[in-house]
Amino acid sequence: MPVLTNIGTLARCLPGGLQSELHLLHDAALAWEGERLHWVGLERDLPAALRGWPREDAGGRLVIPGLVDCHTHLAFAGWRADEFAQRLAGKTYQQIAADGGGILSTVRKTRAAVPGELLARCRDHLAAMAALGVTSVEAKSGYGLTLEHELGLLRVYRELAAGPQRILATLLAAHVVPPEYRERRSEYVSLIVDAMIPQAAAEGLARCCDVFVEEGAFTPDEARRIFAAAARHGLRAKLHADQLSSGGGAELAAEVGALSADHLERVSDAGIARLAEAGVVAVSLPFAALYLGMAPLPARRLLEAGVRVAVATDFNPGTAPSYHLPVALTLACTLQRMQPAEALKGATCIAAQAIGLEAEVGSLEPGKSADFVVLAADSVEEWLYHLRPNAAVRTVARGQTLCEVSA
Ligand code: NIG
Ligand code: FE
Repeated sequence: MPVLTNIGTLARCLPGGLQSELHLLHDAALAWEGERLHWVGLERDLPAALRGWPREDAGGRLVIPGLVDCHTHLAFAGWRADEFAQRLAGKTYQQIAADGGGILSTVRKTRAAVPGELLARCRDHLAAMAALGVTSVEAKSGYGLTLEHELGLLRVYRELAAGPQRILATLLAAHVVPPEYRERRSEYVSLIVDAMIPQAAAEGLARCCDVFVEEGAFTPDEARRIFAAAARHGLRAKLHADQLSSGGGAELAAEVGALSADHLERVSDAGIARLAEAGVVAVSLPFAALYLGMAPLPARRLLEAGVRVAVATDFNPGTAPSYHLPVALTLACTLQRMQPAEALKGATCIAAQAIGLEAEVGSLEPGKSADFVVLAADSVEEWLYHLRPNAAVRTVARGQTLCEVSA
């Protein structure tokens, strides 16, 4: 039952209100008991009953909620540096995919991975993410594309979920149509609907179901079939929407009541209006836009329309080969013109909403999970203005210290 005192600035990031409202407290303290936050407030208001609790010192630094990376493709084998060079030489992501590269090249390597390899790689990535302050991670399947391999990826996530860092698994069997189904794509959709979704749900392996709605991936009608099955089995919808072309993905997200519509680089004005009406969270993925050389999603227009905008890494071996969420937040500021406060809320309480975890994580208030980060910065602006390898000096998840930099 420790109390963290001497917090120079505490950004509570309470849900609701403007995205730019961080609910800052100066000279603050927080107390937790086991996994849960017990008390949060000004240090001078610390209740008498807590004064005898063991004290820890934040050194006058900035404290924020544990960061939530609400969009990653965590489990994959190999990398695709060769394609990075090809894209720089002028070949497009779609041309590389049409030649059998792209997602399918990672599918081949992932299917061939030896047992334990994916688990070990994910553990390394998650440890590095924890050191950066990331305490909750959404992790998609999508590089298996058979019943056995997709469920295998979700089982890797189940194993990882035993630790204090939260892992929220999403079935993304509808990432691309695998080559063996190219001439009979409706049979692949049936496999997802009749086998993958029911089994993933029955084993409790996934909370959400994602579809890549795009030319060359899945059509809105195919996505409707998949989301109808997902809803029958209690999986919430998420979409890769309007990334490479404006294909009505945002409108579909609103129609099916999705938790989030992700990417949105090519979202239409009508799509923005529908997201606002339906209360769907927009997830911005600045690394993907940067690596594909595209203009990012119109964050300011989304925010002005009343859409909440989350920020995530999209960590994957093709379009976003980095799990560095704080750098993604700096890019959300510089490329998407989000204010630092908006970016931070986009990677805490709004990211939690994008994965349905807002009752547990994303803000610092009594009853929520004791997930927080101590940063070597005086303010949120100062933290996100410097591009540093890592400003986090201590990461705590479920009340347990995951990483601590010795002074
Ligand atoms: O979110 N857009 C589709 N899926 C990923 C890319 C995955 C890959 O290229 O391996 C994305 O950008
Ligand atoms: Fe993605």
